[in-house]
Amino acid sequence: MANKAFTLTHPDTGQTSELPLVTGTLGTPAIDVRGINKDQGIFTFDPAFTSTCSCESAITYIDGENGVLMYRGYPVDQLAEKSSFLEVAYLILYGELPTPAQLDEFVEAITQHTMLNESLIKFFDGFHYDAHPMAMLTGIVGSLSAFYHDTTDINNPQHREIFARRMIAKIPTIAAAAYKHSIGQPKIYPSNDLDYCSNFLRMLFAVPAERYEVDPVAAKALDVLFILHADHEQNASTSTVRLAGSTGCNPYAAISTGIAALWGPAHGGANEAVLNMLGEIGDVSNVPRFLEKAKDKNDPFRLMGFGHRVYKNFDPRATIIRGYCHQVLEHYNMQNNQLFELALELERIALEDDYFKERKLYPNVDFYSGIIYQALGIPVNMFTPMFAIARTVGWAAHWTEMQQDPGMRIGRPRQVYTGQTQREYVPADQR
Ligand code: SDX
Repeated sequence: MANKAFTLTHPDTGQTSELPLVTGTLGTPAIDVRGINKDQGIFTFDPAFTSTCSCESAITYIDGENGVLMYRGYPVDQLAEKSSFLEVAYLILYGELPTPAQLDEFVEAITQHTMLNESLIKFFDGFHYDAHPMAMLTGIVGSLSAFYHDTTDINNPQHREIFARRMIAKIPTIAAAAYKHSIGQPKIYPSNDLDYCSNFLRMLFAVPAERYEVDPVAAKALDVLFILHADHEQNASTSTVRLAGSTGCNPYAAISTGIAALWGPAHGGANEAVLNMLGEIGDVSNVPRFLEKAKDKNDPFRLMGFGHRVYKNFDPRATIIRGYCHQVLEHYNMQNNQLFELALELERIALEDDYFKERKLYPNVDFYSGIIYQALGIPVNMFTPMFAIARTVGWAAHWTEMQQDPGMRIGRPRQVYTGQTQREYVPADQR
C-alpha cells in the first residue's frame, strides 16, 4: 500500500487530513497519526494500546493469527532446535547470526562480566529472607546504575555495547544470588569454565560443602527455554523499558523498570501463577468447576497461562515447550507427573469449550514452562526471574535500537481528561 493514505474528516469543521500509511516488511500497516493534534485538534484514544504501534522495530516479528514468531527473520522453532541462547542473544542484539569467531568473542565477553561488585552483593543483606526474588531483582538491577554511571554515555556505541553485554552477563548471577539469599545459603560465584546455563545452574544449586555436577539435560532445557523467552516485540515490559529509556535515564535503571513490569501475573508472573493454579485445581475432576470460574465475569479467577493479546492461535513457544516437557520429564523419570497430566487435560477440555474457542484463548508461553522449571528443581517463586534472565536480551536490544534511532524522542502520551472543570478554592470553615 505504498503512498496510500486514510482521509480523516472532522465532523464539525469538515476539515480533512490525509493520514499516510506506515508499512513494514511484514505485518499490519499503521496510520501515521502524528499530525492530527496540530491539524485537527484531536487525539487518538487507545488505553491498552490494542491498535497502536509505539515504534518501528526490526528485531522480532509476531503473526498472532498464524502463531508465527521470528527473531530477526529466523523462526523461533528453528532457533530452539538448532541454535544456543547466547548465539540467539547475539542475533537479537546485532541482527545477524554470528560467525564462529564472532560468537567466541561474544561468549568470552559475557563470561568475563558474570561477577558482581562485592559492594553490590552486600545489598542482598538488606532484604528479608522471604522477599520475593523478583523484588530483589528489581532492586539489585536498579542499583547497578549506582555502580555503572561512568560507562553509560548512551550516545556512545561502545558504552551501549558494554551495557548490553554486562547486563546479559550479570542477570543470572543476580537471580541465583537472590535465590541463595532466600534460602539462607552462601552465594556461589560464577565459574568461567562453564557455559551460560550450566554456570547459572551451578550458582543456583551448588553449595560450598559439596562438589556439584551440572546435568547437561537440565542445561540444555534451560538454554531452549531462554531462547523461547528472549524477545517478543512490544510486550508490556519491553514497552516499559523503551518508555523509561526514552527519557535518557541510566540503562540499568531502564532494565529494572522492565523487571518490575514483567513481575505482574498478567505478564511474566503468569508462569508462577500457572503452577499455583494447577496446585489449586489439584485433580482433573476439578477442571470443569475451575473452567466455569474462569468464564464467570463475577469471579476474578482466570485460566493463567491461557490467552494472549497478540496470539489468536497457538503461541508457538507453548507448543515447543509442551513437547520439551515430555523429554525432560522422561529424563527425570517423572513421566506420570501429575501437574503435567493435569495441564494437558486442562488444555484439552478448555480448547473444546466454546467460551475459549470463541475468544481464541490458547495456551501461551507461561502455561507449560513451569512444568520444566519444577522438574529441574527450580522453586516456583524463581519462575519469573527465569523469564527475566532471558528477556534481558530483548530489553537490551530494544533499548539499544531505540537509542540508535536519530528520531528518538521522549515518550509522552496524552489523555482524555474526565475530571472537574475549574472551580474556586473553598476555605476550610465553609466546606
Ligand atoms: C506473557 O504481550 C506479550 O507478548 C507477553 C508475553 C511475552 O513474551 O512478553 O507473551 C508473555 O505475558 C503471556 C501472557 C501471560 N498471562 C497470562 O497467562 C494471564 C492470563 N491471561 C489473561 O490475563 C489475558 O489473556 C492476557 C492478559 C494475556 C491478555 O489480555 P487481553 O488481551 O487484554 O484480553 P482480554 O482481557 O480483553 O480478554 C478477551 C476476553 C475477555 O472476555 P470477554 O470480555 O470478551 O467476555 O477473553 C477473556 C476475557 O475475560 N479472557 C480470559 C482469559 N484471557 C482472556 N478468560 C479466562 N481466562 C483467561 N486466561
